[in-house]
Amino acid sequence: MALSKINPTKQPSWKKLVQQFNKENNFHINDFFKEENNRLDEFCINWENFYVDFSKNRLSNNSFKLLTDLCKETNLKNNIKKYFNGSIINETENRAVLHTALRSKHTNSTEISEEVNNTLSKIRTISDEINKGVRLGYSGKKIENVVNIGIGGSHLGPEMVTEALSFYSQGIKPYFISNIDPDYTENLLKSINPDTTIFIIVSKTFTTIETLKNAKKVRKWFVKNVNEESIKNHFIAVSNNTEDPKEFGIESKNILSIPEWVGGRFSLWGSVGLIISICIGSKNFDDFLRGAREMDLHFKETPFEKNIPVVLALLSIWYNNFFKCETEVILPYNQFLCKLPDYLQQASMESNGKSIDREGKRVDYQTGTIIWGSTGTNAQHAFFQLMHQGTKLIPADFIAFKEPLFDDIEQHKILTSNFLAQTNALLVGNKKSGDEIHKNIDGNKPSNTILINKLTPHNLGSLIAMYESKIFVIGSILNIYSFDQWGVELGKSIAKQILNNGKSNLDESSSQIYDKLQ
Ligand code: F6P
Repeated sequence: MALSKINPTKQPSWKKLVQQFNKENNFHINDFFKEENNRLDEFCINWENFYVDFSKNRLSNNSFKLLTDLCKETNLKNNIKKYFNGSIINETENRAVLHTALRSKHTNSTEISEEVNNTLSKIRTISDEINKGVRLGYSGKKIENVVNIGIGGSHLGPEMVTEALSFYSQGIKPYFISNIDPDYTENLLKSINPDTTIFIIVSKTFTTIETLKNAKKVRKWFVKNVNEESIKNHFIAVSNNTEDPKEFGIESKNILSIPEWVGGRFSLWGSVGLIISICIGSKNFDDFLRGAREMDLHFKETPFEKNIPVVLALLSIWYNNFFKCETEVILPYNQFLCKLPDYLQQASMESNGKSIDREGKRVDYQTGTIIWGSTGTNAQHAFFQLMHQGTKLIPADFIAFKEPLFDDIEQHKILTSNFLAQTNALLVGNKKSGDEIHKNIDGNKPSNTILINKLTPHNLGSLIAMYESKIFVIGSILNIYSFDQWGVELGKSIAKQILNNGKSNLDESSSQIYDKLQ
């Protein structure tokens, strides 16, 4: 059972949205507040530890209603069911998309449940043994560092989460090698002791050139400084491919699987998240999964108008297709979340950067947006000027936490006041004219506020699952396949060709650059 194949722009709601947009696109958000008595009730969602306010958007409640009609007309409810029940919704790769099963208590397949439970129990055992000092290095020393070797989905999520939850660290230091750049790897190896370091090679395919080259470099260094025999104590593989890791010297018990039905960019909930569990401890990792599971339940069961991922997806489609905004900015007011924009960039852009619909036709509307961002308040001193007074309209997600992790309430207040000040300033602006025209700030700039009680493993799990579901909803409504990445595959195969055959198939310009590189 595949996802529905419905062109959103041919639906009655889309046509009405076009008319509605023409009527209201110059309205000021303030006018919506004046005219719509219940705006705050209708445009705010209180869910568990989350408070989501999307009232500061250039969207009337009439348009919002039409957007929720679009969900119905494109069969979203049914598509959500297929997403969770393991239907083959990644049709171009003939696969189910079941990363949600990695955090689910029940699945409708015993085989999948068994696989998930086995992997989880391996993750728990390895992390507990390392943290308790039961699993030691070859020379009997306690493990102090863990190095993740992987790229893309095998890197961005684990790095983002270990950094985001570093407050909950159990003491092991995480490192990441992703880029093929040899200097970075060599430099990192200079600073760690092989006696006290575990390496996790993460690659679903175990064919990704960056990961394999780096893994081989690290192996060589390890053998030179220790010996070949001890590879079994210090190397773990996470992969869908079991043969190549064995050839590398990794013992079967140290190979964790990545099921076929887990896409790289959504894989941090299972074995790819091993480094997360080692760093924050298995109990916190369980909380992280629980938070995601609860958000999945909210997404599955809540009516569209109060469903956080659905609402965020609808706003994205609205700005992208009607206001023609090309980007969305992610602004966590929390330094620990500094890698969230990068992580969401891959999750979102690799998923919805498509231009052929599910019927095989070229789309004549906008699909994936450009995702970027940085942390507040740093970003205020970097690019906010353009958001306030530039010519581009940039929808923004402000993510803030009510409570700090430590007890400096006073400084935390400065942080949260800044977040609030910015959303307020973007909305109201500052009218000036005449001699002061350069100080004029129009306002009417959209933002969502995602206010969360505290940065805990549980709440971070919910936050990531929220964005994953948002990505799914956008793809579902826009009638594209969100779970393949053929564009990325093309680049990989050309790089291989250049390495094997030189410049023979390159265009004229690239061929000249090839010569300069020799
Ligand atoms: O970047 C493209 C991609 O295929 C991602 O989807 C994936 O996460 C990454 O490469 C790494 O692939 P692998 O885990 O197979 O090494």
